Amino acid sequence: MFDYLLKQSKQSFNHSQLGSDLLDKKYKELVVKHHIQHDDEQIKVLGHLQHLLDNISEIVNTEPPSVFNRLLSKSSKTTKSLYIYGDVGRGKSMLMDVFFEACPFELKRRVHFHSFMQEINSYMHQWRKKNEGDPLPSLAKKIRQETLLFCFDEFHVTDIADAMLLSRLFSRLLKLGVIFVATSNQHPDDLYKNGLQRELFLPFIELIKQSAVILELLAKEDYRLSYFKSIKTGFYLTSEDDDGSCFLHKKFNELTNNGSTEVTVLVVNGREVRFTKVHGDILFSSFGELCARNLGPADYLEIAKEFKIIFIANIPSFSSEIKDKIKRFVTLIDALYEQKIKVICTIAIVVEDLYLEGFDFKRTRSRLIEMQSERYYSM
Ligand SMILES: Nc1ncnc2c1ncn2[C@@H]1O[C@H](COP(=O)(O)OP(=O)(O)OP(=O)(O)O)[C@@H](O)[C@H]1O
Ligand SMILES: [Mg+2]
Repeated sequence: MFDYLLKQSKQSFNHSQLGSDLLDKKYKELVVKHHIQHDDEQIKVLGHLQHLLDNISEIVNTEPPSVFNRLLSKSSKTTKSLYIYGDVGRGKSMLMDVFFEACPFELKRRVHFHSFMQEINSYMHQWRKKNEGDPLPSLAKKIRQETLLFCFDEFHVTDIADAMLLSRLFSRLLKLGVIFVATSNQHPDDLYKNGLQRELFLPFIELIKQSAVILELLAKEDYRLSYFKSIKTGFYLTSEDDDGSCFLHKKFNELTNNGSTEVTVLVVNGREVRFTKVHGDILFSSFGELCARNLGPADYLEIAKEFKIIFIANIPSFSSEIKDKIKRFVTLIDALYEQKIKVICTIAIVVEDLYLEGFDFKRTRSRLIEMQSERYYSM
């Protein structure tokens, strides 16, 4: 597998071909093609990402395949990871995606941090069913075999069990040469702030600070908000000729900068709720996926906690044949509204006309109308 990586990387990591201004070029392309605004603060962070890309490419280009393990240890000693933090909507994930896409490296993985933690916990759980002792060494080895470069979106820590697990796992992974780029809304010093037994977590914070360059992205504005304001409404009325799927995919691609998507599994009361198209905190879903499954209030609350923007394709006309789905839809909208989640959807009925015998839609109707307002978008 490693030989393949080196072969592949040598081919694509040809310095003269890539150039050390590759990310700058990609950014300029985004400015021209996708009309993003040039932002000097983003360029500064991009410079650090380019530096990391250059370091990785240099290692891969100069080390002979036979000493791949040295490559790993060398990379960890000389190449610092990156931890990018800052306020919402500043472009952290976008910059990380530019870097990730440009990195022609087989053993790379971009993952939402929350999903990563769920995977880790589930591995530990399975392992303990069959084995005794500490699962960490085998887990770290397995991860390192599959991934040398991790891009973690939305790095955050919310409970002591995760905090301790992370601390132990990361020390091993970093020793094994794994490099990471993380985005977060918090400086490492503020991770798990005021958490129970936080003192046990402090060595992990030190580890992050030692192994990564810590950067604040101070971009000019919350670009996500500006984008929402510019689209005015995310509700697209479908017709027989046009089911709106083009509209929805276009908006999704604009909002994620054509970024990659992944499967995300939420665990609610021990049950797994799976979504197939997720980019960071943005869920691309459908009425069927959200309302035809046996989901209830707890699931919708979790969905509203997990995602900030939700795309819902194909909300149909209401009829008594789909009563159960409509009941769920009402619960879903309540949960999303309470959390101020932004919704972009295709819908077969004008919201004002929502009606079904035996249902009182007053609240849902009013909420859906408000969810299309600029004030709601800006919250
Ligand atoms: N310079 C820019 N000009 C215009 N739009 C931008 C710019 N930078 C980012 N965006 C857009 O703003 C939105 C938010 O960016 P992104 O998701 O990267 O922010 P973030 O810092 O990761 O936010 P969060 O902390 O909420 O995860 C995306 O749609 C992105 O394409
Ligand atoms: Mg982000």
